[in-house]
Formats: sequence, C-alpha cells, structure tokens
Amino acid sequence: MKPATLGILLGMLLSAGGLKAQECIACHTKITPNIVQDWRLSKHSANDVECSTCHGDGHTTADDVASLSKEAFDVEWEKMLQTCNQCHSINFARAELEKDDDLIEAGDALLAQAIRVIVELYRDGILEKPNNYTYDFPDLLTFSDAPTPIEHTLFNMHLKHRMRLFQGAFHANPDYALWYGWSEMVQDVTEINTMAEELRNGSRKGWWPFK
Ligand code: HEC
Ligand code: HEC
Ligand code: HEC
Repeated sequence: MKPATLGILLGMLLSAGGLKAQECIACHTKITPNIVQDWRLSKHSANDVECSTCHGDGHTTADDVASLSKEAFDVEWEKMLQTCNQCHSINFARAELEKDDDLIEAGDALLAQAIRVIVELYRDGILEKPNNYTYDFPDLLTFSDAPTPIEHTLFNMHLKHRMRLFQGAFHANPDYALWYGWSEMVQDVTEINTMAEELRNGSRKGWWPFK
C-alpha cells in the first residue's frame, strides 16, 4: 500500500473518532467557552485527550445533562479517578485532583470572607438588604439586579472568577485558574473591603451611579 493511501485510511479512522469530540467542542464553545479554552491550552488537547475521554459521550445534547446528587458526585469522582488512571499513576491523579480541590477550597474561603463583609453591612444598617432576598445574606444568584457596586463585585466574584478558578483547575490549566480565577478573587476581596470601609466612613454612597 502506498504511504499516501495509508494516510487517507488513517485519516478516515481518526476523523470517525474525532466527530464526537468536535460535537462536544462546537456546542461547549458556546456554553462553556472558558472550559474549551482551558482544554485547548492544556497538554491534554495537545495529546488528543478529548472531552469525551474524561467525561464519556453519554451526554450529547443540552437536555440530557445529569444533575448529580452529592452521593452520585462521589461515585463519579471515583470514576473520574479511574479515568485519569488509564494514563497516569493513581497517586499522580489523586494528588492532582486533591490539589484542584484545595485551590477551590481556598477560593471558597475568600468568597466566604467577602460575603461576611457584606452581611455585616446589612446587619449594621449601612447597606440596605434588598427586599427580595430570602435570607440575611447576599443572594448569589440575583446577579442581574445587583443593586450596589459592592454587591456587584461579589456576584462577579462568584459567577465569573470562582467559575474560572474551578474550570481552570480541573482542565489542567493552572495558569488560567491562578490568573483569571484566584488573583481576580483576591482583588475582588480587596475591593470589597475598601468599598465597605468607604461606606462605613461615609465617603461612598451605596447606590449606582456613585462608583
Ligand atoms: C448541543 C449542545 C451540547 C453538546 C453537543 C454537548 N454538551 Fe455538554 N453541556 C451542554 C449544556 C447546555 C450543559 C449544561 C451547562 C450548565 O448547566 O452550565 C452541558 C454540561 C456538560 C457537563 C457538565 C455536567 C454536569 O453534571 O455539570 C459536561 C462534563 C459536559 N457537558 C461534557 C460534554 C461532552 C464530553 C460532550 C461530547 C460528548 C458534550 N458535553 C456535548 C451542552 C452540550
Ligand atoms: C483530563 C480529563 C478532562 C478532560 C480532557 C476534560 N475534562 Fe471537563 N472536567 C474534568 C474534571 C475532573 C472536572 C471536575 C469534576 C466534574 O465536574 O466532573 C470537569 C468538569 C467539567 C465541567 C463542569 C464544570 C462546572 O462548572 O460544573 C464541564 C462543563 C466540563 N468539564 C466540560 C468539558 C469539556 C467541554 C471538555 C473538552 C473541551 C472537557 N471538559 C475536557 C476533567 C476533564
Ligand atoms: C487518555 C490519556 C489521559 C487521560 C485519561 C488523562 N490524561 Fe492527563 N495527560 C495525558 C498526557 C498524554 C499528558 C501530557 C504528558 C506530558 O506532556 O508530559 C497529560 C498531562 C496531564 C497534566 C499536566 C502535567 C504537566 O506536566 O503539565 C495533568 C495535571 C494531568 N494530565 C492530569 C490529569 C487528570 C487529573 C486526569 C483525570 C481527570 C487526566 N490527566 C486524564 C494523558 C491523559
């Protein structure tokens, strides 16, 4: 067989396997662009370790996404570890996943710190708690009508920067997780502390457009 013919046959074989991968990427470029970007920059994409290598290809549409309970998540976690173990030692894989967990935990501690600052502003009557909030702490899902800059910063911290930390960590893109996740979160906390201080000493009003 001529090398060229062999090349074409190989190409056909590879593209059959690559079709699923392209589907995941095509849709997730719209749904979770950060993840696709993390993956593209990682050694996994350079080595043809596809989305479906780790996640399987059981889910292929927007409607069949499993929403997992805690127990199911632990099982999935064990399964994920076994998946890593196909190519890495179990110790390396476990250490990597635990490192990711630690980073996320540290991020959540920062988030908790920021929430506490705002809860204290509500408590001390310095910031008015919006009526539609169920609890005495900021509703992290009420992003679009975040009424004050300090709350807006908190929502961004949660929805954007924590998300990037999470996604970058698990998609083997530590630089991205650190620069666009962690360091942004550190900056968010600093800004929130500064704004809280200004609100307390009266040099800042709580409402838009006084930023
Ligand atoms: C037609 C669009 C579409 C395609 C194709 C698609 N996904 Fe998804 N995927 C989604 C949506 C929508 C979500 C939910 C996102 C959310 O809730 O933030 C999702 C969520 C996920 C999640 C998270 C699941 C969870 O429990 O939180 C993973 C992992 C995932 N997709 C992997 C894949 C893989 C691997 C493929 C290819 C085999 C794929 N997706 C193909 C749209 C798609
Ligand atoms: C090397 C293995 C690996 C590869 C390759 C991989 N992922 Fe993941 N992914 C993970 C791990 C680990 C998690 C965190 C645990 C979980 O949610 O299952 C995760 C989480 C996710 C989530 C959930 C994020 C959230 O915010 O809840 C989505 C969505 C996702 N991956 C999509 C993708 C897509 C799309 C690709 C391909 C572009 C991809 N993954 C490639 C390992 C991988
Ligand atoms: C199908 C094989 C395969 C699977 C499955 C896989 N990896 Fe990888 N992984 C690779 C290859 C190949 C490299 C690149 C190795 C290199 O260049 O030294 C890599 C690189 C990495 C790196 C980067 C190491 C570095 O030197 O920067 C990390 C971290 C990593 N993998 C973690 C994981 C985790 C965690 C899982 C499971 C969620 C996983 N991998 C699943 C094949 C795989």
